[in-house]
Amino acid sequence: MNTNFRQKQLLKATEDYIKAYFENEGSGHDWWHIYRVKKVALQIAKTEGGDIFHIELAALLHDLDDWKLNGGSKVSKTFEWLSKMDVSEQDIEKVLEIIHEVSYKGAGVPTPASSLEAKIVQDADRLDAIGAIGIARTFAYGGNKNRLIYNPAVQPENHDSFEAYKKTNAPTINHFYEKLLLLKDRMNTQTAKELAEKRHQFMEDFLEQFFNEWEANF
Ligand code: ADP
Ligand code: NI
Repeated sequence: MNTNFRQKQLLKATEDYIKAYFENEGSGHDWWHIYRVKKVALQIAKTEGGDIFHIELAALLHDLDDWKLNGGSKVSKTFEWLSKMDVSEQDIEKVLEIIHEVSYKGAGVPTPASSLEAKIVQDADRLDAIGAIGIARTFAYGGNKNRLIYNPAVQPENHDSFEAYKKTNAPTINHFYEKLLLLKDRMNTQTAKELAEKRHQFMEDFLEQFFNEWEANF
């Protein structure tokens, strides 16, 4: 489906709003994360299909109400924004559904995506969580939350509830085992599965080097 003029205007206004909102975000969820997720999602949609208006709008708004960033607020800024912009009820419902299904909730918690659009935005968000950028974002997040880089005494956990996953204060290296290394096998689309391979291998190589340096194995 080609996006029409009204849709283009709305996407531009949303992009401006999100750009300003996330400009100075310091935990790896800044505007450039949103920019990359949008770009990768539209790239995946070229081969996988899907409604690109819903995909782009959801990609732009996907972190606005994220639990990690909103301090536990119950007010949906996404809903407020879309209502203010006179988006149809049907479109709002669809975009909120996609966003609701995007987020990772722990190694043992399934996160099924019910539409092709949700599958694509989830894949794009998860591709930005792995590889070189994934590593950079993860340490930015850990620093932002005052976490240790690594502590061999703290073992990674297999969180079986979203509540347990949210509570962790573990060192940043643990996040590789609790999320990042698991994402390759949780991609939805064939396109994202293929894109994930190289980024996954890069993280494996990084960790091997990291532990060698940690133990002075030259
Ligand atoms: P999701 O909604 O799937 O969590 P986000 O776009 O909100 O995806 O980004 C999640 C990213 O935030 C992670 O991939 C990682 O870089 C960072 N992050 C989240 N939790 C942690 C953590 N406990 N330690 C280190 N980084 C984290
Ligand atoms: Ni995100």
